Order: sequence, then C-alpha cells, then structure tokens
Amino acid sequence: MAVLPIIVAPDRRLKVKCAPVKAVDADIVRLMANMLETMYLAPGIGLAAPQIGVTKRVIVVDTAGKDEERKPYKMANPELLGVSAETWVHEEGCLSLPEHYADVERPERIEVRYLDENGKQCQMEADGLLATCIQHEMDHLDGLLFVDHISALKRNMILRKLTKTKKLNLSSAAE
Ligand code: NI
Repeated sequence: MAVLPIIVAPDRRLKVKCAPVKAVDADIVRLMANMLETMYLAPGIGLAAPQIGVTKRVIVVDTAGKDEERKPYKMANPELLGVSAETWVHEEGCLSLPEHYADVERPERIEVRYLDENGKQCQMEADGLLATCIQHEMDHLDGLLFVDHISALKRNMILRKLTKTKKLNLSSAAE
C-alpha cells in the first residue's frame, strides 16, 4: 500500500467529471487500499479518487469515531437511489481544502448503490454523518467541492486564502 499526495484546491484536476469504473480489477482494489491508507493518515473520514489525481468514480469513507473500530466503505460507481426530503446541516471540511470549514445542508438520509472491492453490487442506507460524507465524496466525482454548496462570497474567500497559501509554499520551496 502507498500513501499518495492529496491535491489542494484551487486545482483544475478537482473540477473533472470522473469516468465510471469498468470492472473492479486488481488496479481498482489497489487504488481503494491506497486511498484508504492515505485517508487514515491525513487524517480524514472520506477521500475521492480525483483528490489523488485519478479520474475514476471511486470513493472511500470511514466515519467511525476515534475510539471506535474502523468501519471502512470502499465504493466504485456510487449512485444515489434516493434521498430524504429532510435535510441536515453539518460543518464540512475537505482534505483538498485544508483548514477551511463551512456549514453545508444536504439530505439527511440517502440510499446508495455501488460496487464493493469484490465487484459485488451493494445497496445501503445511510444517515447523519455517514450520509453527508458519502454525498460529499460523490460530489468530488462530478468536480464539485463543498464550497460549491455555499455562498459565492464565502467560497471565493476560502479559495483566495488557499491560493495565497499555495504561493507562499511555492516560494519557500524554491528558496
Ligand atoms: Ni472532500
């Protein structure tokens, strides 16, 4: 397994619509394992393939608490089958938007269909944090970030700060 560098916004590679996985082969199984390891180390509760530069519809999530047993989900081609009318507001963060957070409103409950690491079609219901996390990661597969759900004013403020941090990092790396 390998830990991979995570792309930080703003970056056009995070704006890409990812292609469906044709088959869950050895490459996809390895990708899922590497993504999960990268996510745990970050640490984060979800990661989507485009965040490590792979434009495939693959996400991993694990919303288990620090003191709980790990409960990872590895999903290829996740699809929402249904969402609740009730919504839930949660303060979201993202490994591609380090140190920035904002309240995002999403459906509280979802039903999702996906292929697991064995290529088996699975269906599950999720609510609360897990539902939010799955929706957040699925957004990445369509080139959307959580800041795309908030006001343009707040989004631009966050992206401007990230651009500034990147420039600072680049100039210090060049010295
Ligand atoms: Ni994210």
